[in-house]
Amino acid sequence: MCGIVAYIGPKDAYPILINGLYRLEYRGYDSAGIALLHDKKLSVYKTKGKVSELEEHLQGKNISGNIGIAHTRWATHGEPNDINAHPHSSESEDLAIIHNGIIENYLTLKEELMSRGHKFRSFTDTEVLINLIEDIQNNEKVDLPEAVRIALNQVIGAYAIVVISKHDPDILIAARKGSPLVIGLGKDDFYIASDATPIVEFTKNVVYLDDQELAIIRRNKDLKIKTIKNKDKTPYIQKLEMSLNALEKGGFEHFMLKEIYEQPRSIHDSFRGRLNASKGDVRVGGIIDYETKLINAKRIIIVACGTSWHAGLVGEYLIEDLARIPVEVEYASEFRYRNPVIYEDDVVIAISQSGETADTLAAIELARSKGATILGICNVVGSSIARATDAGTYTHAGPEIGVASTKAFTAQVTVLTLIALRLAKIKGTISTSRFFQIIHELEMIPDLIEKTLKVDPVVKEIAGKYKDVRNFLYLGRGYNFPVALEGALKLKEISYIHAEGYPAAEMKHGPIALIDEEMPVVFIAPNKGMYEKVISNIQEVKARKGKVIAVVTEGDTSVKKLADYCIEIPETEELLVPLVATIPLQLLSYHIAVMRNCNVDQPRNLAKSVTVE
Ligand code: F6R
Repeated sequence: MCGIVAYIGPKDAYPILINGLYRLEYRGYDSAGIALLHDKKLSVYKTKGKVSELEEHLQGKNISGNIGIAHTRWATHGEPNDINAHPHSSESEDLAIIHNGIIENYLTLKEELMSRGHKFRSFTDTEVLINLIEDIQNNEKVDLPEAVRIALNQVIGAYAIVVISKHDPDILIAARKGSPLVIGLGKDDFYIASDATPIVEFTKNVVYLDDQELAIIRRNKDLKIKTIKNKDKTPYIQKLEMSLNALEKGGFEHFMLKEIYEQPRSIHDSFRGRLNASKGDVRVGGIIDYETKLINAKRIIIVACGTSWHAGLVGEYLIEDLARIPVEVEYASEFRYRNPVIYEDDVVIAISQSGETADTLAAIELARSKGATILGICNVVGSSIARATDAGTYTHAGPEIGVASTKAFTAQVTVLTLIALRLAKIKGTISTSRFFQIIHELEMIPDLIEKTLKVDPVVKEIAGKYKDVRNFLYLGRGYNFPVALEGALKLKEISYIHAEGYPAAEMKHGPIALIDEEMPVVFIAPNKGMYEKVISNIQEVKARKGKVIAVVTEGDTSVKKLADYCIEIPETEELLVPLVATIPLQLLSYHIAVMRNCNVDQPRNLAKSVTVE
């Protein structure tokens, strides 16, 4: 969702800010803006639309200054337009602010300020906050950091903010609660951003602000951090592991395609150092101290959203199958509000690529209030969920820039496979020979995915045939039911074709009514598990003249006789099929979206990290 970038130092701020905004585009946004301070003049420029439109809008304008703030906005309060875009200026135009998050009590604060004669230009909660800061500065005669601190004590909601003042070209104030903010420490300058992507090319030394912390960033001075309750904190400097290459397309037409092709590598990175097939060893460092808790847990509750929820479903099948521990998988957005029964000996596992999903964070808070142990599986290092959990593990898939999650999903499934295997081993619910068999096969998965990617031309041809249909059905059973859900989600989010995923056997309880000669049905039909039963389901579709696209095991003959198109994937263990079978479905949605001229990396209305509920 919204993105923040800010700079203070000796360099020209504009190129740093505009490139930073380009780097943040992947988060999803609908307007962009920038404020630069030069010669006591605070210039604010903003526009609806893309960063490139902002750049055009700035042609011929004064863009000098070595301090500035910039923002991409994903509309929440007020429609996407030039006025509601950030930065927002205070009434006097002496201050400007950029803000991610939502101020929940903004209406009360606004009414109070209006009753004191303040006027507003936009419908945003953010403008309320900057006017509140200015009001405090004027009435209480305090300096800017103190005015920001006092204002934040009146705010209910979530925020990551950066404030700039026309009267002080040597200071930026940043603060966070619930929305991430990271400060890069350069040689003689500071970079502030909502995630590390705009910072990594300048410095690897960063400080992640904690909730309710305020950073006072002065030119040529040390970074000062305090809580909004006025307690000084020592900045904790961490090293970024992200590389610049990971943030570029590397010759691919889209980030999504690059990320699909990265999966042999990203899966390998997910189990590197955790899986030693020859020694028969699996361990997931981050949760080692919680293994006893896990194997004795009354239940494991997995909370997640979207694609991460689908990975959680695969996790349920894996953990119950291998380690015989009851697992429930919950949509975080439902869990947080439905007054669920949570016991102190439950272990909650939150899964999130971004580590910032508001619903998942709220589900964690609820589970914590009931005394459950909370573990996290996140991709983004230092993210809010990674910090809100008792312990956890990173997926190490590398930055995922395409809004549609691909490599993060397979990395999540890989980590869940490792956890299930480890728990099964220490609980004694798996024989040694079976354990060895699975881990050997798991180690082979990157090679099998490399092989699977060779189906790309076949998938492209199928995409060409079906790119104009209005509906798709995806069916699978057992481990491949979540794969069907994921395939359908991928298609709808990037190509805007309506698609549903179902357990194949459920088809006859309703969706079968949809089948006619226009309806493509994607079956995940490897020669494992309920293969024969899936063949019967395919026959049911063919009997009603539906079109069948089947993902089958290499060398399959039975499904080939029935299906209109087959996509062959290499053979592997049944429980590892999701890792392989997902690949052609990702490619299918990618090619269909490209053929329909859709914006693959930034689909309409979607954001990469959903930081609002
Ligand atoms: C789908 C997709 C979303 C996310 C969901 C959760 O491609 O990207 O469905 O999976 O918004 O996001 P995270 O995993 O960041 O919590």
